[in-house]
Amino acid sequence: MQAVQTDKLKPGQILAEEVRDVNGRLLLAKGNKIKSNHIRIFKIWGIAEVNVAGARRGKDRFDSRLDPELVEQAAENMKFLCRYVDLEQPAVKEIFKIAVLFRCRHNLVEPEGYLHFQERAIPERVQKVNFLEELNKKKIVLPEIPSVVFELNEVIANPMSSAEHIAEVVNRSPSLTALLLKIVNSSFYGFPSKIDKVSHAVTLIGTREIYGLALGISILSIFKNIPKEIIDMYSFLKHSLACAILSRVIAAHLNSSQTEQLFVSGLLHDLGRLILYIHFPNESHNIIARSINEASLLYKEEKDYLGCDHAQVGRQLLKQWKLPMLLENNVFYHHKPSAAQQPIPAAIVHLADLMVNSLGIGSSGERFVPPLDHDAWENLELSPSCFEKLIGQAIHQFEALESILNV
Ligand SMILES: [Fe+2]
Ligand SMILES: [Fe+2]
Repeated sequence: MQAVQTDKLKPGQILAEEVRDVNGRLLLAKGNKIKSNHIRIFKIWGIAEVNVAGARRGKDRFDSRLDPELVEQAAENMKFLCRYVDLEQPAVKEIFKIAVLFRCRHNLVEPEGYLHFQERAIPERVQKVNFLEELNKKKIVLPEIPSVVFELNEVIANPMSSAEHIAEVVNRSPSLTALLLKIVNSSFYGFPSKIDKVSHAVTLIGTREIYGLALGISILSIFKNIPKEIIDMYSFLKHSLACAILSRVIAAHLNSSQTEQLFVSGLLHDLGRLILYIHFPNESHNIIARSINEASLLYKEEKDYLGCDHAQVGRQLLKQWKLPMLLENNVFYHHKPSAAQQPIPAAIVHLADLMVNSLGIGSSGERFVPPLDHDAWENLELSPSCFEKLIGQAIHQFEALESILNV
């Protein structure tokens, strides 16, 4: 019997020891012949290696077949994008290394000079406004809470509620029902037979997980019709989903009991930006153009032009909707988690956001890797040596769920 890294497994090999996920659920019993579907499920659940009958231990996880010039160019790209990050900081150093390889393997390397010269025309007559003042004067009306979110909150807040109650609420929205069933039937969960009822899905994956998925999906779907000239919503959703998954993976690694809230927080962390894009399309265009031309951070430009940044706007919306305090905490402080009342969960979303921006999975409009909050990083007590495993696990989960974004 030998341990083999999941990446090196070949269909047909015989499993020498049972494999279980983080929750103890049996993924494959000892003695089974491994199929490609099993390998995919192992990757999704972050199983780094399994014991296989009569195999030899695999070698280095990273192959050395990448073109050195491509790697060098990716590193140049990253140095430009990391201009607001301390590249000597150990966590950043590790993320940088992983992101360079990821960008090479996923065709995300830009040619020399491309990132430096993307000047955008700044529209004329763009006035500075004060978003929060406008909001107080009721010149801006924030979107209403989607009724399904409101009802889900009620159900979740009631300790007497059952899986059936949750399913009943979800079933009232046909589009949400279709999407949830698509998710639970995706390779992410890898259930052997098709699930065609929400109530069945709730019993299988749990009340809190369904609530989190339904909450995030319903909220983001309000914004799905924002014109492409303002923001590429597909790219925005990719950024949000990747941040959600990474937040959950980091939280699980830290044995947090709040993994589902962290998933939703990651999904909604840049939500405020969508409000800004809707209410102030010209100003948003100007803010984005300025951040490109001046090579400045988008959230700093937001503050300059609108008197507040997207994190404040996001909090305002969640507050109005009376969503759980932890979500507000994580969304409001995702760029400065050490100042949060609950600094650890906010730091998890912060780190996930930094990782996703480095990897270049989608974008919420920010071009640069946002700076690391060093105190928040210290609070997490994480070792950068686990990043490769955590990011690898999150990428496999993201790939299994990405198809839901096409709905
Ligand atoms: Fe942000
Ligand atoms: Fe973000």
